[in-house]
Formats: sequence, structure tokens, C-alpha cells
Amino acid sequence: MNMDVLVSLSKRRGFVFQSSEIYGGTGSCWDYGPLGVELKNNIKRVWWRDFVQTRADMVGIDASILMHPTVWKASGHLDRFTDPMVDCRECKRRFRADHVDAVSWVHYCPATKGNKFTIPAGEPCGHCGQRRTLCPECGKGELTAPRQFNLMFKTFMGPVEDEAALTYLRPETAQAMFVNFDNVLQSMRLKLPFGIAQAGRSFRNEITPGNFIFRTREFEQMEIEYFVNPNERVEGRPADEYWHDRWIQDCLAWFGRYGLRAENLRLREHDRDELAHYAKRTVDVEYNFPIGWSELMGIANRTDFDLRQHAKWSGKALTYFDEERKEHVVPYVVEPAAGVDRALLAFMADAYREEEVRGEKRVVLRFHPELAPLKIAVLPLLKKRDDIVGAAQTIRTDLAQHWRVVYDDTAAIGRLYRRQDEVGTPYCVTVDVQTVGDSERGEAGDRRVTIRERDSMEQIRVPIAELVTVFRELFDGASWSQLAKQYPPARG
Ligand code: GAP
Repeated sequence: MNMDVLVSLSKRRGFVFQSSEIYGGTGSCWDYGPLGVELKNNIKRVWWRDFVQTRADMVGIDASILMHPTVWKASGHLDRFTDPMVDCRECKRRFRADHVDAVSWVHYCPATKGNKFTIPAGEPCGHCGQRRTLCPECGKGELTAPRQFNLMFKTFMGPVEDEAALTYLRPETAQAMFVNFDNVLQSMRLKLPFGIAQAGRSFRNEITPGNFIFRTREFEQMEIEYFVNPNERVEGRPADEYWHDRWIQDCLAWFGRYGLRAENLRLREHDRDELAHYAKRTVDVEYNFPIGWSELMGIANRTDFDLRQHAKWSGKALTYFDEERKEHVVPYVVEPAAGVDRALLAFMADAYREEEVRGEKRVVLRFHPELAPLKIAVLPLLKKRDDIVGAAQTIRTDLAQHWRVVYDDTAAIGRLYRRQDEVGTPYCVTVDVQTVGDSERGEAGDRRVTIRERDSMEQIRVPIAELVTVFRELFDGASWSQLAKQYPPARG
């Protein structure tokens, strides 16, 4: 599937808009629209519920984005959070040195009187056989030698813009868990192993952002720092190695649980030379994005690097007292680190299907019901009938006490169904003449409505009085096929 399809659907249906679009857009910044914010909140909510609220060994924090500047000295980000960049001497564009050959390149071919061609990434010119040596964008300028470029955004704290006031927007949420290690340990009286989780914004001045919300300069992370006792063994293995593998499997399973298909997920072990400065071992969960296999999240074994560094730079002990061995230990850390925006992109890409229904194309987002931005749409069959509209609006109000529900009467019913399919709404409720009857003819309604299920498009007739119970069962995980058997099918 093509990324442009998702970009266009996202804009058309209110998931993601380009930031400051009316001013021409801001490089690599995106705004989540009415449906995007629901989807994003749902992803964060289930992540928090599954990895924090339901676990006895997890707690959460919500730390400030601006931290003491020494945090970034201690963590190594000031010295080592860099990418090599090269500049074009002609057009002044900047590229990541290790990415230049991964983009298509502009070439003025000497074998064709200097005609301009755009040649696919990594390939030579088909006419003259030359490979890229100049700027891939303008095709004219020499590139400078690589220089290291720090990815942290600088800012100033307070009214004076001098070196003393210099600080940074956090490039990862992780460091707040390390600097708060002792606060959390003491206030919550925790025993190893335990984890601290946080979901929040991070900022990186990426040299080559792009691919929609895949790589941006402002994004959200969901990170866990899971502290273990390095002197312990679990199932015959060092505790950090055991827990690292456990988290890798748990994270992979989590994405599968919310709908990512197994064939689109894989694990990738980092080579020794690509490990971050703090990591003993890192495994990425990769997803087969529209741009190809790429990192969805990383799970690193950060050893005791961060706690030792912060202890050294702050002068505060960051240790855990092991009651059994009567010794202070510096815990090791396993870090499952996911990007919210990348997870959202993966969930959208995986949910997207184009189907043919009665000779017509149907676009449907088969979101897991927990992630779907809208859970139910209530639709009146005839918007000119006040009694039908009134009943539909009352149903919307009642259901909205429990779920995110919309009312829509702005098109014919077939069109309304397609609209809800396209944004992944699992269920539509339709109110029709049969529901309310016809008072002029003295016919009473049956007080039943049609529920239509998104994926099968099956329809059943359910009493209005049972709607909340039925939807509660469905959203609690009951299968549609089982539930549908209890009700008569609707005439479709
Ligand atoms: N604390 C470790 C850490 O930050 P990372 O691999 O640099 O590790 C973790 O980031 C996750 O954050 C990535 O797997 C990705 O999902 C997300 N992420 C990182 N940089 C991003 C960017 N520029 N845009 C969107 N998401 C990003």
C-alpha cells in the first residue's frame, strides 16, 4: 500500500493534518484531527492499562519536558546524540550522510546532452552508467565532508538568553524515569524487579524527517524503564537477560493483540556497531510500513549505565538495598521504548483494506474495537421524519454515556455506512420506520433498531432497551457471530 493513500485519507477524514497548513505547513510537524486524537488517545490508554494499571510491578510518572541541562551531559546526549550530516555546497540542502544513497537522485546526464533524470535510490544512470557523487536533490553541488550534528532542540530557561540559561527539549522520555528513580522507589516502597512508565512528547531536530508521521521532529513516546537486580538469576539466567527477552515477547504480542498481522511484524537484533552508547543489546520490533520494514519500537538492555551516570553527575546515590544479600546494588534496566505516532501509522496501515462489495469499491479501516476512534454511529434512515430523528438522537445521547458515539444524517444510508467504514467505526445503529411506527396510520413501532457490523456487514434487529447491554458485551470481547445468533437478522 502507498503512503499517499493514508496521507490523503487522514486529511479527508480528520485523522492527521499538516501543521500550520494555511501558512504552507511546518517541516515534519503534523496535527492530529478529531479522529486522530481519539485514535492516539486509545493507543496510549490501552498501552497504559496493559503495561501499567493491570501489573503489580509497574508504576507511572508524568515528568516535565524541560529538565536540568546536566541531565543531558550525564546521559551522553550532549556528546553523543548526533547524526553525521553533509551539506550541498550549491543548494545548501542538508542530508544525513548515511541516508544520501537511500534517496532517489537528480542527474544531468552527459550522454544525453545534459538531460535531467531522477534516478532511483542506489542505482546508476541507465544512459551513462554514472553513480551519484553530487547532491541528490539539485544534482549540481558537491557535498561537504560529514560533520556531527546534535539532534537536541536548544532553548533558554528564564528571561536571559545566555549560556547559563541554555537547556534542551527532551529527546526521549526515558531520562525522567532515571532521575526520579529514588523518588519513585522511596514513595512507593517498591521491590525489584519493577518498572516506571511514561507517555509523553519528545523532540529531535532530525536532519531528514519524513514519510508522514514516521519520522518527525516532535513526537510522542511510550517508554518503560524496567529495573532488575543484576545479581539475581531467573530461570537459570541473569535477571536482565531474562527480563529483556520477556519484554521483547510481550511487546511483540501486544501489537498483535491490537490487530497488527503477524506477517507484518518481525524482530531485528541490532549489530554490535549500531548499538546506542548505553546498550548491551537491543532488539527492534519492526513493522512492514508502506515505506518497507522499519523500526516500530526498540527494546534495549541499558545495563546500569544511566543510574551510574546520574549518580556520578548529581552526587546522589541511585541504588537499591537488596535485603536478602544485605547489599546496595545499582539496578540494570530493560527499556521497551515505543513511538505513539509510529504505532498509530502501523495500526492505520494494517487496518486499511480495499474491498469490492456488489461491484463497488469499499474502503474500510478494520481497527480493533478498542482502538477505533468512533465506536458507534447512530443513523436515521429518513431525516425528514421528526420521530425517527428524535429517536436516533436519544439513542446517541444514551450510548454516549458509555462510548464515543456520533450521529450523522447528512447523506443516504448507503453513503453513511461507507463513511463509517472508512474511519473504522465497528458498529452502526440505524433507526427506521419500523422502529417508530407510523402514528398517522395508527401503526406502533417495534422499538427495535438495526445494528450493522463493520467487517461482515451483517445486520441484526435489537430492542433499543437492550442496546447498552449488547454493546457492553461486544466491547468486552464477545464475538459478533455468537452475539448475532441471539437476534433476528435485519432485512437489508
Ligand atoms: N529511550 C530510548 C529511545 O528513545 P529510540 O529508538 O530513539 O529509543 C524509541 O526511540 C521509539 O520512539 C522509536 O522506536 C520510534 O517508535 C519513536 N521515535 C524515535 N524517533 C522518532 C521520530 N523522529 N519520529 C517519530 N517517532 C520516533
